[in-house]
Amino acid sequence: MTRIFTIDPAQPESVGLRIAADALRRGELVAFPTETVYGLGANALDAAAVARIFQAKGRPANDPIIVHIQDLAQLYLVAEHPPMLALRLAEHFWPGALTLVVKRRPIIPATVSAGLDTVAVRMPSGSVIRALLKAAQIPIAAPSANTFSRPSATTAAHVLEDLDGKIEFLLDGGAAKMGLESTVLDLTGEVPAILRPGAVTLEALRVVIPNVTQKQRMIDTEDATPAPGMLIKHYSPRARVLLYTGSAGAVLERMQNDTQRYTHEGKRVGVLAIGDDVAHFAPLGAVTEVMGDERDLEGVGAKLFSSLRALDAQGVDVILVRALPRAGLGDAIYDRLLRAAEGQIIAVED
Ligand code: TXA
Ligand code: MG
Repeated sequence: MTRIFTIDPAQPESVGLRIAADALRRGELVAFPTETVYGLGANALDAAAVARIFQAKGRPANDPIIVHIQDLAQLYLVAEHPPMLALRLAEHFWPGALTLVVKRRPIIPATVSAGLDTVAVRMPSGSVIRALLKAAQIPIAAPSANTFSRPSATTAAHVLEDLDGKIEFLLDGGAAKMGLESTVLDLTGEVPAILRPGAVTLEALRVVIPNVTQKQRMIDTEDATPAPGMLIKHYSPRARVLLYTGSAGAVLERMQNDTQRYTHEGKRVGVLAIGDDVAHFAPLGAVTEVMGDERDLEGVGAKLFSSLRALDAQGVDVILVRALPRAGLGDAIYDRLLRAAEGQIIAVED
């Protein structure tokens, strides 16, 4: 049985929060909202509790987990000699949606980091997770609160869809504000490297660390042994996702043709639409979900995962989506869509 407590994000301190914090300390699993997405948390210092995260998610043991901390004192608890750069980045971006990969201290069980000698650390800004960290007084290991390879959960309902009965507690604090996961930045190499684009953009990082680089995220499905977290099949709805790149005019025309073709074949077609695009597909009988407006990428990011889940819930066979420009938050949005599409794009010529 999963017990649900409704938490007011404006005033998270409550009996439910206290009970959940005690449960975490006892080694139980608690899901909670953060400012990015919902997390599935366990006591980061308790190897047995962390093992239960992998079990509940069906997550492969080679995919390491982020440790959430309350303050800088906890950074020194979990990380071995954090570099000066970590402190500078913390000053600029914490609390917030930036995860730093640093050297792991032995107090963090190796299973948290899938056996790596590093640990990914983030001080979140969401009021519910912050209150939980404060009440529990332990660092909390937490991946996104979805079944492995499903779209990340941005609402309590999504968490229940995937994890009902598999976790002890769920704190319902409403929809996660950003809807996209944190940016993962590796500080253990020669130059800081983005391992996963996310809610903190490359442009924002460059202001503080001009030499930041971006690791090529794995897109080769043939690769038998992908690096941790680089698995291409990720964020996938049940339906097949088709991602189209090219000029808006040419792409929309191709998507309309494909909508008609699939419909003809008896398939139920879903379209993940941007703003006005929806008018091109509704008349063709496609199931449409509007992600927001191209000029408001924050809005698109906030709705991306919930729109994919909404289309799935309507039983579509394919989901057609037009790729947006990759600047700023567009990079993280493109990354999640590419993964949902299992690394395949349909490049449309003018
Ligand atoms: O916004 C977020 O980051 C959310 C919320 C709950 O904090 N969490 C999240 O966790 O998205 P998860 O497990 O879904 O993604 C964690 C990412 C994975 O790509 C993983 O491979 C990477 O972080 N990661 C974790 N520890 C790492 C490490 N020691 N070295 C390299 N990558 C690591
Ligand atoms: Mg995840």
